[in-house]
Amino acid sequence: MKKIQISPSILSADFSQLGNEIKRLEEGGADMIHVDVMDGHFVPNLTIGPPIIKALKKNCSIQFDVHLMISPVEKYIKAFADAGSDIITIHPEATDNLKRAVGTIKSLGKKAGVSLNPKTHISALKDVINDIDLILIMSVNPGFAGQSFMGEVLPKVTELRKIINDKKLKIDIEIDGGINFETAPLAVKAGANILVSGTTIFSGSLKDNIQKLRNCA
Ligand code: DX5
Ligand code: ZN
Repeated sequence: MKKIQISPSILSADFSQLGNEIKRLEEGGADMIHVDVMDGHFVPNLTIGPPIIKALKKNCSIQFDVHLMISPVEKYIKAFADAGSDIITIHPEATDNLKRAVGTIKSLGKKAGVSLNPKTHISALKDVINDIDLILIMSVNPGFAGQSFMGEVLPKVTELRKIINDKKLKIDIEIDGGINFETAPLAVKAGANILVSGTTIFSGSLKDNIQKLRNCA
C-alpha cells in the first residue's frame, strides 16, 4: 500500500492570510496544497485564478495540487501551468477532448489528473488511463467546502484501485469532499492514497489535524 498523503484545501483557509496559511500547512506536515479553482459557470462558486497562485507559489516550495473546476478548461491550462501548478486536475465534462487536454498538461511538464464527479462513471477515463498521473474522486458534488461525504463513491475507488494494480499503472487516487476522521479510513480502505481536506484541517490546530488525518487512515 502506498504512503498516505495529505492535500489540505485552502478553500477553508483565511483568504486574507493565504500566504501565511500555506506556510502553516507546510510547517504542519502537508504533502501538497490543494487549490480549488472555480469559475461560477462549471460550478456555482467563484474562487481564485493564476495571478494568486503565482504569488503564493513564489513564497513556498511545497507542491500545488490544482483542481480546475472551470470550462472550457483548455483555454486556461497554460496559464495555470505558468503560474506554478505542479499537478493540474481537470473534469471530463469541462472539455470537448479530454485526451488532448491531458496531453497539453503533460506537454507543459506537469502531472495530469482527471476528476470524476459522484455521478461520473469510470468509463470517462478510458481514453486517458495510460496518460494520467492522478484520479481525483469527488465524494461531494463540486462547488463548496463543508459538504457531507457521499459513501456511494467508494465502490468506484475500489474498482479503480483494482484496475491500476492489474495494469501496473502509477496513478494516485485522491479523494475530495467531506473527508474527516471518520470518512478518511473508509476512503483509504477502498484504495485512495491522497486525502483532500478543508473543513477538518482548518478546524483547530492544522498540525494536529494533518497528523491525525494521516494516522487515522
Ligand atoms: C469541493 C472542493 C473541495 C472541498 C473540500 O468542490 O473540490 O476541495 O472544498 O472541502 P471539505 O473538506 O470541507 O469537504
Ligand atoms: Zn478540490
